[in-house]
Amino acid sequence: MPHQIGKHIIELPFTESTNTYLENLLDEQDLPEGTLVITDKQTAGLGQGHNTWESEPGSNLTFSFFLKPTFLKPEEQFYLNMSVTLGICGFLSEQAGIDKMAVKWPNDIYINNKKIAGILIRNIILGDSLESAIVGIGLNVNQEKFSPGIPNPVSMFLVSERKYNLKECLESLLKHLNRQYQSLRRKEFDVLRERYLSHLFHLGVVTLFRDKERSFRGTITGITAFGELIIGHDTGETKTYGFQEITMIIDNPADYLL
Ligand code: BTN
Repeated sequence: MPHQIGKHIIELPFTESTNTYLENLLDEQDLPEGTLVITDKQTAGLGQGHNTWESEPGSNLTFSFFLKPTFLKPEEQFYLNMSVTLGICGFLSEQAGIDKMAVKWPNDIYINNKKIAGILIRNIILGDSLESAIVGIGLNVNQEKFSPGIPNPVSMFLVSERKYNLKECLESLLKHLNRQYQSLRRKEFDVLRERYLSHLFHLGVVTLFRDKERSFRGTITGITAFGELIIGHDTGETKTYGFQEITMIIDNPADYLL
């Protein structure tokens, strides 16, 4: 498989951010699809939006890979998020016997209301297709303690009370990511969407949200074909929200009540 994720691996003792490293490398040279950059230590790990990603050196998996999903139209790009998310869920369930995981829209992996993994995807669109994507994954594996500033973190160790071999974890995770990417290449959109919805955190549960203006109660009823979140408001109206337009308030919701 020419596009296999992790067929070519670049291992770095440390780097600012594997996403940034891969982006810079791609500016300088062509790389085979599936090229993966991994490090034990990121000095400036990136999270979604303006967030950073903290990870204890040597304890977790922090890596990025490069894809050319040119078979996807720009409006189908959320299916890539779904396939990556599902790859991580499949790994957690098979490798660590962890199956209480949920996907907090758009693509955070949660276990019992705590975040175990984050995904950062940078897509480049050219004309009517997705020219390339850099997918960064941070998965908390063996970390025992997190700094107090990180909201709700958890690791595989904290969930299952055992330590893991990081190399074996990477191998197994790549198997699952490749499986879901194959499903994406076959354009099994309905299957991906159904699997994603079956893991969606707080689907059908009354939840407190905050948008640009206010906090409100609503219920997630699904996602649109473009990956926007569909929320039924208490008032009876239904609205859709894109990335960064809405936050789910899980910690201390009483602090936000109207
Ligand atoms: C998030 O949940 O905010 C996304 C976190 C993504 C973190 C990973 S770690 C490897 C890759 N390199 C980065 O700088 N970020 C991603």
